[in-house]
This record gives sequence, structure tokens and C-alpha cells, in this order.
Amino acid sequence: MSTPAAARWRVAPGGTVAGTFPVPGDKSISHRALMLGAIANGETHIRGFLDGEDCLATARALAALGVRIERPAATEVCVHGAGAGALRGASGPLDLGNAGTAMRLMMGLLAPQGFDATLIGDASLMRRPMERVAQPLRAMGARIDTHEGRPPVVIHGTPELRGMEYTLPVASAQVKSALLLAGLAARGRTALREPAPSRDHTERMLRAFGVQLEEQGGVIALEGGQSLRGTELEVPADFSSAAFFLVAGALAAEQPLRLTNIGVNPTRTGLLGLLHQMGADIRLIPRRDPTGHNAEPVADIEVRAAPLRGITVPEELVPLAIDELPVFFIAAACASGETLVRGAAELRVKESDRLAAMAAGLAALGVEHRLLPDGLWIRGAPSLAGGRVDSRGDHRIAMAFAMAALRARAPVEIVDVANVATSFPGFEECAREAGLGLARL
Ligand code: S3P
Repeated sequence: MSTPAAARWRVAPGGTVAGTFPVPGDKSISHRALMLGAIANGETHIRGFLDGEDCLATARALAALGVRIERPAATEVCVHGAGAGALRGASGPLDLGNAGTAMRLMMGLLAPQGFDATLIGDASLMRRPMERVAQPLRAMGARIDTHEGRPPVVIHGTPELRGMEYTLPVASAQVKSALLLAGLAARGRTALREPAPSRDHTERMLRAFGVQLEEQGGVIALEGGQSLRGTELEVPADFSSAAFFLVAGALAAEQPLRLTNIGVNPTRTGLLGLLHQMGADIRLIPRRDPTGHNAEPVADIEVRAAPLRGITVPEELVPLAIDELPVFFIAAACASGETLVRGAAELRVKESDRLAAMAAGLAALGVEHRLLPDGLWIRGAPSLAGGRVDSRGDHRIAMAFAMAALRARAPVEIVDVANVATSFPGFEECAREAGLGLARL
């Protein structure tokens, strides 16, 4: 990490935001582009790659597994894929840092290989549940050990995996994607049923690499043994990074704030629906795809301040807004009336326990709220107190509370912000350019 763990911010209270900004490339899509490129035949060129710590951890792990990866520019990557048998055993454990997506997808990628591998990460990742992936992979014939359900994950490569039919107990794109990666190398058909839709970047990208995939009635299926063809990929800007500025704009953009080239895959943009329901003034300007390389829909998004009112969030929208809920809670804290989110227990097993971290931060800013086992109840107020918030090393908690300062009466200090570099390199500059009075202490 380029910044010290104790790094903290002081964000000045009040102010307005405006301007036109790009945000960095999509994290979920960048991880997948590297991994699929590695097992494809031929070169894969990636533009718009997220030059953040999480995706760099994936790139380093693949390099340790023998994949040649070139970066002609920070956001451009060329992966020299060598087909399904491209990977070689690494000389030591693969350290995936803070990146849960990297670890879970790697489990699916590595389970069918002819060598063993050990996956480790930082203190946060070493606490996160891995059995949700290990268990179904074992049902395909994989041999995987976890330590009381958590990393280190030890994978004893088993090239004879069997395809299977499986119903996911939680709507998780990471689990789904790991099983699709394993299914690609397995004998026979793998068919997965999701309890609710989750982000579908893996499915879209597999098609871009020439894989045949069936999707019908909530079931996603593929035949094992298909090979991937190297391709050209354009990674759109990350909706999850744009989300912080969408909420900032909804709270404080007296002049329009426009975010450009944002991925607006409907399995990611649940927050837009929630903010609209609250009364936000947000407009999408769809972008054409002149290159024809875009497997994902892209738009500019423009937002202006409008009075927000509290809502009850429909549970089926939770998976479609899962990473945006921290900053949504900030919008709720600044809205009139009450907001209720239930069915979001998954937030407890993200980079931090995001329900507990948000509740503690809201308490520090004097926001009336109740922490529930699977959600939060919040009573909004026209302004917030200032105070000191612990991000618990979680990038999205840190960035969410930076936006809260726009409605605070005194400075908001946010502790332990170094991990913002995992998903949003350049956040501080972007925030200052938008109008936030953010200083690093
Ligand atoms: C991701 C899926 C989601 C999300 C995470 C990225 C992905 O996790 O929270 O930030 O890239 O597949 P789950 O699959 O655990 O819901």
C-alpha cells in the first residue's frame, strides 16, 4: 500500500459540489478481465483497467502463476493467455491483499489445475468467509481446505472436476463466478440457480471470450471444456466509485455534477432507483459504443441537489445496490423522515462489518439510528454533527463518510483511510476537484 495505515482525512463541513469527472475503471470487471485473459488462447487487450491495489493483487498472483502481463500504461493491460493449461504452480502463497473478489474467483480458477496453491490476504481478508465457495467446489470434486471457514485457503489441484447443478444459498456474484470458472474446466454441464439476480459481469465477459452460455428462468449454465479466445475489452468507469459523487451531488450540487463513461449494468445500479424514490434529480445520458468492444452498457450520469425523503428499501433491490449501501445510508441520514433497510446481512461480511461500521459512524455524527441484525433504520436530519469516524480500514466506509461532511456543522475526521487505494486511486484529488474540503492529516 502506498499510504501509511494510519492515514486520515479531515473534511471541512458544508460546501457545494459541481463539475464533470471521470472515475477509475470498474473493479469487478478488471479482476475478471485479467483472469479470463489468462486462460484464453492469445492476447487480451484491456483498456480502462482499474489501477488500484485490489486488481494489482490479482495481476501479481497471475504473474506468479506464470502468466505474462504487460502494462503499456497504468490503465492498459495486455494479457498473454496460453489457454486452459496456461497456469503453473507458484513458488509461495498467493497474497491477494484486501481483495475478496480476487480470492473467491481464484478458488474457482485454481481448483481444477494440476498443482496446489495457497491463498492469503491482509487482516480483513483473512477474516472473511470462504466456505461459501469451497463447499460447492468440493461438490464438483475439488479438494480445498480453509481454516475454520476462512483463509488461508489451500487448494489441492484436481483436474477431474465434474459439472453440477447447484442452487446458491445467497445471491453472490463471487460464488457464481467461481463456480462458472471451475465449470469451464469440468466434465459435463454446470447449471447454477441464483435466489435473486447478482452482478452478471462474468457471464457477459465469458461471451465476449467466445464461450457459449445459457441463461433461462434464473438458471445460468455452461458446458465444460470450452476454450476462450483472447479479445479486446473496454472497462467502463466503476458505478460503485461514481456512487459517492452521486450522493454528494444529490446533497449539494447546486450546479450540475456529471460523471462520465460510467458502467450502468442494471445488476449494479440499484442505487439509482433508490435515490430516485427518495426524490433525487439524476439523469442518465447513454453513450454509444463506437468500438463494439463493450460488453457492458455505459452512460454519463448527471445529478443536481434536490430535497431527499426517507424510504423503505425493497429487499429485492439489496443485491443490486450492495456495495453502494454505505453511501446510501449517508443519503438517508440527510433525508427527511425515516429510512429502513432489511435483508442486508451480507454487509456484515464485506471488507468490514459494514452495518456495524456505519452504525458507529452515524452515532459519532449524532444521527438517530438503530442497528438491526440484517440492516439499519435511520431517522434523517437537515444537518449532522461533526465528529471522528473510524473507517475500520474499509475503503467504502471511508469514502461514504467523506460525503457526510457536506451536511455537517463541524469537520468530519475519518481514520484509517489507506485502503481507499484498493478501489479508487485518486479519490482525494477527485473529491477536492468536486468541491469537498478534504485534507489528509
Ligand atoms: C463482487 C461481488 C459482490 C460485491 C463485491 C464484488 C464481484 O460480492 O460486494 O464488492 O466482483 O463479484 P458478493 O458476491 O459477496 O455479493
